[in-house]
Amino acid sequence: MNNNVISTEERALPDLNGSALEKTEYHSSSVRETDEIASRFAKMIKGGETILMYGELGAGKTTFTKALFKALGVTDTVTSPTFTLMKTYYGKYTVHHLDMYRIETEEDVEELGLREEIEGSDVTVIEWNKFTDFIGAVYAVSIEYLGENTRKITIALLQKNA
Ligand SMILES: Nc1ncnc2c1ncn2[C@@H]1O[C@H](COP(=O)(O)OP(=O)(O)OP(=O)(O)O)[C@@H](O)[C@H]1O
Ligand SMILES: [Mg+2]
Repeated sequence: MNNNVISTEERALPDLNGSALEKTEYHSSSVRETDEIASRFAKMIKGGETILMYGELGAGKTTFTKALFKALGVTDTVTSPTFTLMKTYYGKYTVHHLDMYRIETEEDVEELGLREEIEGSDVTVIEWNKFTDFIGAVYAVSIEYLGENTRKITIALLQKNA
């Protein structure tokens, strides 16, 4: 048993009320609106942030990440890292995109050298984060499914970024 592992429910929909310094809620009615919210959020990025994405399967975590990376100057096509666990892109910053859905233990994280990779990168986005202590995350973005094309998007500042 590992005490640092977060439950599946908590990973999909965390209670951000206790942990957030600031919280902003948006309503999105389309992928285009989600893209706009993500590119506005990109203006907050200073480099060095780890961003935790929350939401059920198909909520829009990867969709949001793609728009965020595009706004950060990534021109390569961003694809879901579900099977590769981590992808790295280069834009205004070096950005990592992780999906921990298939990662089981902290030992996996160590073995894959993810911590070292992340610590050396400018911006890291993590879907399905499993570990409570993961690299001092600065933002949490929660996407809730409301209807086929509608989502509630909450962006929470977890700690001051430099
Ligand atoms: N307003 C919206 N915002 C974001 N995505 C939307 C919206 N409306 C519909 N969608 C659709 O929802 C799906 C979101 O898929 P996406 O892969 O981004 O989810 P995910 O949260 O990354 O899932 P997974 O947990 O499997 O990685 C896409 O098919 C997208 O077109
Ligand atoms: Mg995804």
